[in-house]
Amino acid sequence: MYDINDLIDKIELIRKDSLKKIQTSDNIETLKKIYNSVFGKDKELSLLLSEIRNYNIQDKKTLGEFSNKVKKEITDKLFEKETLLKKELVNKELLKTIDVTMPGISNNIGSIHPISQMIDKIVKTFEYFGFSVASGPEIETDWFCFQSLNLDINHPARDMQDTFYIKENHILPRTHTSSVQIRTMLSEKPPIRIIAPGRVYRNENQDQRHTFMFYQFEGLVIDKTTNIKDLKNILTTSLKNIFNNEKIELRLRHSFFPYTEPSFEIDATCLLCNGVGCRVCSNKGWIELMGAGMIHPQVLRNVNIDPQEYQGFAFGGGPERLVMVKNMIDDTRLFYENDLRFLSQFKKI
Ligand code: PHE
Repeated sequence: MYDINDLIDKIELIRKDSLKKIQTSDNIETLKKIYNSVFGKDKELSLLLSEIRNYNIQDKKTLGEFSNKVKKEITDKLFEKETLLKKELVNKELLKTIDVTMPGISNNIGSIHPISQMIDKIVKTFEYFGFSVASGPEIETDWFCFQSLNLDINHPARDMQDTFYIKENHILPRTHTSSVQIRTMLSEKPPIRIIAPGRVYRNENQDQRHTFMFYQFEGLVIDKTTNIKDLKNILTTSLKNIFNNEKIELRLRHSFFPYTEPSFEIDATCLLCNGVGCRVCSNKGWIELMGAGMIHPQVLRNVNIDPQEYQGFAFGGGPERLVMVKNMIDDTRLFYENDLRFLSQFKKI
């Protein structure tokens, strides 16, 4: 039986020796051999450790703790080195097959259509104010598209929205999203707050400002005291957010729609010159953005809402127009030509 200090010295020697071997080893096979030579059943360390049982309790404790520490240190270092060697091996293999100096392959990532991006922005903005999204069919009846909105069969204002009539059933591709106002007021009880984006169709000769199909968004608010001041406030705050421009101011200019009274054209200060006057706004300082007004009492009666109890406003505009104003685009047809040279400029509007 060794003196306890001798035993400790012997274990320490094995520790130093194996750590050194581990450090200088350069392959996994050698590491396995080191492991076996230390921890193998009839190997030096195991033999020494089997001596521990002959010591008194106090010494057993000291020797036990010490040897456990040594065993842990050796296995940890073995594992560390093994991981390192494996990594090196993988890297070596990779280098054989990959030429890191070769030019990469770029991914041609598409982008969302600028109109869709604008609709998303509009919807998110109004959702923030508690509006929910509504929709209606693109093929409408004459009643939903016109008559319910005070545009009787022979009303001259129909001329502004000529479309492709299908005579038999009084159905037609809708000319504006205002039909969604009617559908919503019939299906929901006030208070109402909706935003309704969608496609509309008109019989147009196509030019820089007209296409036979385009997009609109319709807003409708019905409540007991909703008034023009609310309309202006909500639109001002929303457009500031949509254009990401705090300086925008709105102007309500008198206009006419048979379904609103009073009716307005909504103008915004020109985004380019901030109202000073420039080429984009034809030196007016203002650009026309959308139509709006307080809902006509007869329209409320048409959908069984009592105009004595409820009032509200509606507004409608074109997302194309907003994208054009924001990006100084002067031809609306560009949106529908699928030309990637144009579209790929709108990774983010
Ligand atoms: N429907 C109108 C248009 O297409 C816009 C509008 C909507 C006007 C709501 C007033 C109220 O031009």
